[in-house]
Amino acid sequence: MLNDEQLAMPFVVPKRIEAQPFLKWVGGKASLLRQLEEFFPHEIDRYFEPFLGGGAVFFHLKHRFPDMRPFLRDGNKELINCFRVVRDRPEDLMRLLDEHSHGFRADGDTYFYDIRKQHDLTDDLARAARTIFLNKTCFNGLWRVNAKGEFNTPVGSNKNPNLYSRDNLLAASDVLQNAQLEAQDFRKTVDEARRGDFIYFDPPYLPISAYSDFKRYTLEQFREADQVELARVFRELDAKGCRVVLSNSEHPRTRELCAGFPIQVVCEKLHDEQIKILQAVAMNQREAVVEAMKANGGYAMLGHLYKEALKISGVEWGTKTPFKTINRIVQDPKFFFKIRPGLWALLEAKDTLPADLKERPKPESDHTYFQGLLVELGNLRKLSTYVPRQDRGRKFLGKALGDVATLEKIYDFTYDEIVRRAAMVDVIWFSERRFPAEFIEVENTTDIEGKFHKFLDFDVFTTDFRIVAPSARQEEFKSRLKQPVFKSIANRTRFTSYETVAELHSRASAMAETEARWNA
Ligand SMILES: C[S@@+](CC[C@H](N)C(=O)[O-])C[C@H]1O[C@@H](n2cnc3c(N)ncnc32)[C@H](O)[C@@H]1O
Repeated sequence: MLNDEQLAMPFVVPKRIEAQPFLKWVGGKASLLRQLEEFFPHEIDRYFEPFLGGGAVFFHLKHRFPDMRPFLRDGNKELINCFRVVRDRPEDLMRLLDEHSHGFRADGDTYFYDIRKQHDLTDDLARAARTIFLNKTCFNGLWRVNAKGEFNTPVGSNKNPNLYSRDNLLAASDVLQNAQLEAQDFRKTVDEARRGDFIYFDPPYLPISAYSDFKRYTLEQFREADQVELARVFRELDAKGCRVVLSNSEHPRTRELCAGFPIQVVCEKLHDEQIKILQAVAMNQREAVVEAMKANGGYAMLGHLYKEALKISGVEWGTKTPFKTINRIVQDPKFFFKIRPGLWALLEAKDTLPADLKERPKPESDHTYFQGLLVELGNLRKLSTYVPRQDRGRKFLGKALGDVATLEKIYDFTYDEIVRRAAMVDVIWFSERRFPAEFIEVENTTDIEGKFHKFLDFDVFTTDFRIVAPSARQEEFKSRLKQPVFKSIANRTRFTSYETVAELHSRASAMAETEARWNA
């Protein structure tokens, strides 16, 4: 049993260190992680890294998302074997590394070249120890192979290198526990990855200078044709619904291969005086729309997406028409479906949507929905908006209609009797002078003529009247309005379809968003 004093002592929780690459790898991304951060998603379940190299990005992401399931791949068999041995036998590995360290200190270059010659080792543990030893003692940590696929980098200048850090190797082993490791070509990712997976591609770069022309990590080398294939794989995975990011060198050919994807330039200092630019294809635009919808409960009005999806960092929308792009994105039936005009939802959220959005819309809820859109439209036009008292509690996309309208009570704009009758109109827009600018009735089930009679009460005022209804009712609207009794309101009573109201609402939201940026 613990005594009181012991109970009062704070528990000592071992600090989890963030594992770092245990190999020095050309093209390693450790120095770029901060800049790449904005391209990574906010949550990751299955993570693919087809060009693993030293694994800097994997170690970073795994620390951020401990539950992430990694699928790590690289064309280099020795590299993958090394990661497996670190995962499964770190203690044995460190013992062999200590032997290498000893041998190298005693016999220097001779020891290095003796070990380098051992191309035919079959024991995985010995192979892994050899890989780490050569990597840490060769020139610049360069893993380069000859035409036979044999490691051929010469010995480096550091004669007393540290082959490993115990804490780091154990931390690396720890985070690799649930990693699936395969030595394979990047093309296989297409068959393995599923919708929603995150894939980070960091291939050997397209050469931009003599310095950067390094593609001999593997026997096969990475050629122009592979870059073209990679672009195809990238597109295929994007079309499948995967979240993809790719880094490559700043080169016109990269831009050509990645045409249609948002591209962002990040800078990397390669040698003391040389700055290399590389591009990353940012999180795609659809992903931003999905995230904005998720944050809103799995559904959203276009107007909401115009505002929220554009705020998500790491996505380039281009300068021209992001609103049109969003409009196009939501029409992809693989990911989204339309609930009502202007209102879209995520296919994957279908079962978890609020009850009133799950079923096919009923005429009564249509009525409230369009009332809500009309109120918001009036608000966007900077008019005061009113809905009848009995409708104030009705739900419009999770909010009470009364909270969306700006007026709690109708303005006393004329005699009590007329104000009382006006108070029953579905939506009224009031001008700055507190005078009705437009009376609007939403009509879906009953007789349109009744609405005209309602409007007649206000024909002495210089206001407009509007019927909002399904487009199929337009003919009925026209023929009824022709009757002589409605002469006093005929030329200022308009018909607007549900679709047009939704469209106007989206456009007004886009305009408001553009203006907000203009004024920012
Ligand atoms: C730029 S490095 C990756 C660097 C890594 N992101 C890091 O942070 O260390 C490119 C990697 O691609 C691998 N590679 C080359 N050709 C490949 C192919 N066809 N399929 C899969 N991997 C390949 C190389 O072995 C090398 O490890």
